[in-house]
Amino acid sequence: MELLSKIHAKAKQNGHITFDDYMDMCLYYPNLGYYNNKNISLDPKNSDFITGPEISSLYTESILKFYKDCKKYKKINYVLEFGAGSGEMAYNFLLNAGNDYLPKKYYILEKSNYLKEQQKNKISMLSKKYSSRVEWVNEISHLKDIFLIANEVLDAIPTKRFLKKENKFYEKVIKLKDNKLCFSNLDCNNLLEKKIKNIEKRLKYKIPNDYNFEINMLYENFFSGIFNNINNFVFIIIDYGYHEKEFYHPERSLGTLQYYKNHKKLKEPLNDQGNFDISASVDFSRVKRIINLFDLEILAYTTQEQFLLNTNILENSEGIINPFEKKNILQSLLFPSDMGENFKMMILCDHMNKDFNMGFKDYRHKL
Ligand SMILES: C[S@@+](CC[C@H](N)C(=O)[O-])C[C@H]1O[C@@H](n2cnc3c(N)ncnc32)[C@H](O)[C@@H]1O
Repeated sequence: MELLSKIHAKAKQNGHITFDDYMDMCLYYPNLGYYNNKNISLDPKNSDFITGPEISSLYTESILKFYKDCKKYKKINYVLEFGAGSGEMAYNFLLNAGNDYLPKKYYILEKSNYLKEQQKNKISMLSKKYSSRVEWVNEISHLKDIFLIANEVLDAIPTKRFLKKENKFYEKVIKLKDNKLCFSNLDCNNLLEKKIKNIEKRLKYKIPNDYNFEINMLYENFFSGIFNNINNFVFIIIDYGYHEKEFYHPERSLGTLQYYKNHKKLKEPLNDQGNFDISASVDFSRVKRIINLFDLEILAYTTQEQFLLNTNILENSEGIINPFEKKNILQSLLFPSDMGENFKMMILCDHMNKDFNMGFKDYRHKL
């Protein structure tokens, strides 16, 4: 109720709340937002959704294999993980890296204070040799020779929401009516309208009427904060998402936003604020256009299935004795109907040795 009254106050003050502001309050409001309150848990025993690193340590072992391959071709001394959730990936990464590959530092940049505490507890279970390498940072400043990981972070960055109706584009905002929150349509400002028209130009067709969609306007900030402050890096971005033509497919008329509680999808996000997750798929073509502004190289864009198969997940899974457990893990991570195809890996860097060979199917041409 406390968060709801803050949202009401903001809606009253401005006449409305944009969806990205609403999502930001619901997820990150200090002490009350979904990720930023004492009840948050990404541990599968007690979570609302499950991520790759939480399904099995095999997931992190694959990332680790890729990190080791990169190290053969590039000077990499450090790792930085964005939004490290429960700390599971950091824990498994350090535990399984092996002496020759341990990073000098494993930085974590986490937005939620409560998750930061949970990560600290998890890392403290490691021996000093590993735990002493972990350092939490609040921003990126002058880092180099570094391997960056963002696993399901972009989908948690608040997004704007739009609707096309009777041949006109509206920004979907939230208003108060009879003291209750409801969606309302606001005329798009020129900048937003221009962005949408550019999407239509690239798609080479008009977005249909009664079509809901998102554009994330905060990605530029997120990426410029990183790319203006690092040198000599490889960055692996993992998330569910599509290239632009798929993202704005005419049949996806409800957009890509999802609301999750207790592993079930909720229909709408205007009740029980702070107690469920909100996320949106990533438009990887948009990420590519932002990356292009920084003159960086996209080394690969592939599916999770392709990435994991080419980083030894099957070989590593031989260590799992229980056949049912093994089957369930591999199915969840690899099957196209599960995470295998919806989840993409985008790998970028500022420079890579030409001899570096990924070995997996590459879908950069689709971006
Ligand atoms: C869906 S969870 C994924 C957690 C973890 N990476 C995993 O795969 O289990 C999203 C995480 O990103 C964090 N986060 C969201 N926005 C962030 C930002 N701008 N910088 C750093 N962390 C962020 C959240 O607090 C949370 O830890």
